[in-house]
Amino acid sequence: MRIVVLVSGTGSNLQAVIDAVQDGSLANVEIAAVGADKHGTLGVERSAQAGIETFVVNFKDFEDRADWNHALTEKCLSYAPDYVVSSGFMRIVGEEFINAFDGTYINTHPALLPSFPGAHGVRDALAYGVKVTGCTVHIADTGVDTGPILRQEAVAIEDDDTEDTLHERIKVVERRLLIATLADLAQGK
Ligand code: GRF
Repeated sequence: MRIVVLVSGTGSNLQAVIDAVQDGSLANVEIAAVGADKHGTLGVERSAQAGIETFVVNFKDFEDRADWNHALTEKCLSYAPDYVVSSGFMRIVGEEFINAFDGTYINTHPALLPSFPGAHGVRDALAYGVKVTGCTVHIADTGVDTGPILRQEAVAIEDDDTEDTLHERIKVVERRLLIATLADLAQGK
């Protein structure tokens, strides 16, 4: 099963997928490429170090979002992936992209959707004062963190949690859920 992974930041969740492919726990998954929406991401750097093809479709290089969305869609299509995985990719893609990868664009989110969607799900859960949050793996559609949910798992919030300590604990679960989801998809489940 071929995947393209999209990142915008540190790519620690991506690193877990790379490690799983390399250690055999995702044996029948091939990372065809890793892409980002801006230059200089650690996620792309990690991938290049792992010998994985990388690309950048730099959002700032395009006059408008539709042109960027088209370029990203074409680039991802050029790898003929079975799935595109957003792992910390912080751009909302447009209809052309979703139509091209209808039902095969997977996103992970560090909250129990539909609660706390958007770019600050961890911060929003803390600010609200919920006692339990978690993470979600879902098929992305044209909404913000919407679409059919594939896996979720709860993570308790500790009294002394900061956004960073909570997010790091969520990411540990998120990596496990993402790898389990990819393993299922690779087995045709
Ligand atoms: C993950 O929690 C992801 O769900 C969210 O941003 C985080 C990315 O972390 N959108 P990393 O870049 O994989 O370390």
